[in-house]
Amino acid sequence: MTQLGVVGGGTMGAGIAEIAIRAGDDVLVLERDQAAADAARARIEKSINRAVSKSKISADDAEQALARLSLTTSVSDFADRELVIEALPEIEALKVGFFAELDKITAPTAILATNTSSIPIIRIAKDVADPSRVVGVHFFNPVPVMPLVEIISSLATSPEAVATVTEYARDHLGKKTIQAGDRGGFVVNALLIPYLVDAIRMYESGYATKEDIDTGMVNGCGHPMGPLTLSDTVGLDVVLDVAESLYDEFRQPHYAPPPLLRRMVEAGYLGKKSGKGFYDYA
Ligand code: CAA
Repeated sequence: MTQLGVVGGGTMGAGIAEIAIRAGDDVLVLERDQAAADAARARIEKSINRAVSKSKISADDAEQALARLSLTTSVSDFADRELVIEALPEIEALKVGFFAELDKITAPTAILATNTSSIPIIRIAKDVADPSRVVGVHFFNPVPVMPLVEIISSLATSPEAVATVTEYARDHLGKKTIQAGDRGGFVVNALLIPYLVDAIRMYESGYATKEDIDTGMVNGCGHPMGPLTLSDTVGLDVVLDVAESLYDEFRQPHYAPPPLLRRMVEAGYLGKKSGKGFYDYA
């Protein structure tokens, strides 16, 4: 059993917390205030109840898993955590500041992991005294369903930290792991995001309808969902953040976010989580 701390109980943090409590860990989720903590608990409970209704786990196991979940609004409660996985929004300054705080609070042996989608790990570790304990552990949405976890080492990450989180994700959580180097987007998003923003550009240009773009990729290439539905699922704010981060890293036009993506995020159309994106979600 790992004493796991999860920072942020949004889509990704809640998913990580859920699979960890189901794997038997003691999990503490940090949120910014009580309302956000309550929302995070509700998110986890809803997903676990869905697993019960689909007979993926028994009601007893679900109850026991939920008994291993705690929420807090105080970072000082993370003092006893052996592993922390941060799942805050993709705002570099926010993550850097948070890791500096974690550095002071946690034991020097604790591993500090980030679920960043695209920000280089060494930049997040900038103000951590011993950056060898900072590592990228990147899950995919929806976390309970997608098998992959990317493990990202910065130039300073220790082989021990990499081995610990790889074993944790692979052997304990049952995920498939791949190793990636510390450059924007790692392996998967460096390939996925240009495809998503190209699809948005194609729609924005009026060349094809959103339905035809999605139908084309589902039926022509066997993808489980088309690129505009997938963008809505990932969250348009996340797609924008990752595209900006990739553009910042590589300065290549195919990473540049299209104006329509920016306008939708500015309008609050974030996809499934806000009820509206390329499609409407009741
Ligand atoms: N939580 C838990 N389980 C879920 C779920 C969720 N949010 N969404 C779907 N599921 C489960 C369902 O319960 C169902 O399980 P069973 O087959 O055992 O009944 C299974 O997944 C399939 O779900 P559905 O039948 O409802 O729908 P579907 O067949 O369309 O599958 C999907 C849904 C698994 C999400 C599938 O559409 C898919 O794989 N889509 C692509 C997702 C993807 O590419 N994710 C990566 C995004 S990139 C990312 O996350 C990285 C980043 O940094 C941006």
